Amino acid sequence: MTSPTIESVLHEERLFNPPAAFSQQAHIKSLEEYEQLYAHAKADPQKFWADLATKELHWFEKWHTVLEWQPPFAKWFLGGKLNISYNCLDRHLSTWRKNKAALIWEGEPGDSRTLTYAQLHREVCQFANVLKQLGVQKGDVVGIYMPMIPEAAIAMLACARIGAAHTVVFGGFSAEALRDRLNDGQAKLVVTADGGWRKDAIVPLKEQVDKALADGAVPTVQNVLVVQRTQQPIAMAAGRDHWWHDCRTSVAADCPAEPMDSEDLLFILYTSGSTGKPKGVVHTTGGYNLYTHMTTKWVFDVQDTDVYWCTADVGWITGHSYIVYGPLSNGATVLMYEGAPRASKPGCFWEVIEKYGVTIFYTAPTAIRAFIKMGDHLPKAHDLSSLRLLGTVGEPINPEAWMWYYRVIGGERCPIVDTWWQTETGGIMITPLPGAIATKPGSATRPFPGILADVVDLEGNPVQTNEGGYLVIKHPWPSMLRTVYGDPDRFRRSYWEHIPPVNGRYFYFTGDGARRDEDGYYWVMGRVDDVISVSGHRLGTMEIESALVSHPAVAEAAVVGRPDELKGEEVVAFVTLEETASPSEALVKELKQHVVNEIGAIARPGEIHFSDALPKTRSGKIMRRLLRSLAAGQEVSGDTSTLEDRSVLDKLREDT
Ligand code: WTA
Repeated sequence: MTSPTIESVLHEERLFNPPAAFSQQAHIKSLEEYEQLYAHAKADPQKFWADLATKELHWFEKWHTVLEWQPPFAKWFLGGKLNISYNCLDRHLSTWRKNKAALIWEGEPGDSRTLTYAQLHREVCQFANVLKQLGVQKGDVVGIYMPMIPEAAIAMLACARIGAAHTVVFGGFSAEALRDRLNDGQAKLVVTADGGWRKDAIVPLKEQVDKALADGAVPTVQNVLVVQRTQQPIAMAAGRDHWWHDCRTSVAADCPAEPMDSEDLLFILYTSGSTGKPKGVVHTTGGYNLYTHMTTKWVFDVQDTDVYWCTADVGWITGHSYIVYGPLSNGATVLMYEGAPRASKPGCFWEVIEKYGVTIFYTAPTAIRAFIKMGDHLPKAHDLSSLRLLGTVGEPINPEAWMWYYRVIGGERCPIVDTWWQTETGGIMITPLPGAIATKPGSATRPFPGILADVVDLEGNPVQTNEGGYLVIKHPWPSMLRTVYGDPDRFRRSYWEHIPPVNGRYFYFTGDGARRDEDGYYWVMGRVDDVISVSGHRLGTMEIESALVSHPAVAEAAVVGRPDELKGEEVVAFVTLEETASPSEALVKELKQHVVNEIGAIARPGEIHFSDALPKTRSGKIMRRLLRSLAAGQEVSGDTSTLEDRSVLDKLREDT
């Protein structure tokens, strides 16, 4: 782990107050209101969350205990019974929202669909009945490997409805990555599509599923349910593979939501850690439902007149919490888009905003940087006046990108919510509430009510104002990950042991460095562990190294991130070869493709350097800090005295 530096102390003087007109109609209208909520929540977190749970969610049965905290294991709303699909669908049907648009979907080739709450409810019920018919039961795990089509959300809600847990695997992951995740989660069924549109091409999703399951590689999977999207010919294995459009004709249009225990498993979502294989982050029902509901309501300030668009893929936590569960639980109108900006359709996001009158737009800094590069003429060619709130997530946003977003997209009218959170936190943790908190470009501002954040050193002592340290959370919150699936020891090691408990108080370790300024605003500086962020996607250096080493030509590999203007970071690999192999351009290509096959295109190294040896400490640890400097083209500074063999470094310096 590197220690967080304070080099990024930028003196940001610009302050943007919430526009008065925005505050007046917002759910949280002023700084005083935020501070009151924050103080209440801090004084009595259990009462704070219990009051909201009573007011904002439907429960089949009330809980008997709000929180059981046996560090590091938390349980919320014990004994409570609810169903998140009921909260997202059924409860809106008895109101005027029954015929309100729940999902507006724009397909890549220009097709579109709108589903009202009543229609979405019917689709989900049928899907749930098909899952049941194919033998899925409460407690089973279902893999979802889908393009960005309504059925991705429908499948998730259908699982939740019958008490099956889903594990969504991003459609850009390779067959190998899919296989590992299905095996780790012991999935019983996989939901997929014949194909999906990714930019200008069709991704053969079903073919990848076939590869992942070939030769009984995932013995638990009994059935594959296939949604027709792109209509290219695909192989259907008799007995195992079923078309959704065939199956649905023989099931009932209603399926009552199963009352679930508050702590029943809702989903597993795999994410990269600093070591080894991806971690299955476990989220449960009640706390997750409440927290994503409240953050959607207060951070995005959703109102019934809004058209809300989050550009994430449902394969990531942002898609889970802020395309599907949070917004639908609030009865919002959610826009879902299958496409992405690229050379052939550079203005497509602005077209979509204009076409549907999008009011709330939530995207990632990597996308914003790409938009800046594509030029102001694209957004300026569209009417973006419907927008009233902008959001960002995924990595620190640089103040100039923030300013561009504010000026060119928001017309200097829209507040920006820079939301800091993680797969593990389930929902947004540090963020402005747009009607209440003044923003500073580049800062995620202040913690959400109920979130006790701090910046500490490795002993858990708070650091000084404006001093860099480790970002931690000091009290459990409802949507906190419950464990790492099947590996509670890894849960402990990854999140609770880097910083020891102080006076019996446990700190959740985020893996991010941060500082807090004189106004109590947080400035998140990025990862302090061996996780790199490529276009906002988390990749573990170990995963990529393992992928490289699995190639017969590779003896050893070290992977680091190099700052990149567009992607945030770029993967740079240093590789030593087996005796039998020799460096060549062809091998570089082959190794890059090998990583794509093993993990997926997001992990493709931008550069591969061959070397006779890697710089190591005397105890045999690869000195990544040195490699990071080399990759970034910087002078290697700092202490190199622990280096076992200095000539390795000199040689590398010549070669890179
Ligand atoms: C980074 C995505 C700065 C951070 C929801 C975190 C951010 C990791 C921000 C989690 C932000 C996310 N400012 N950094 N607003 N949002 N991050 O699990 O390093 O894919 O730990 O969850 O992204 O990534 P994950």
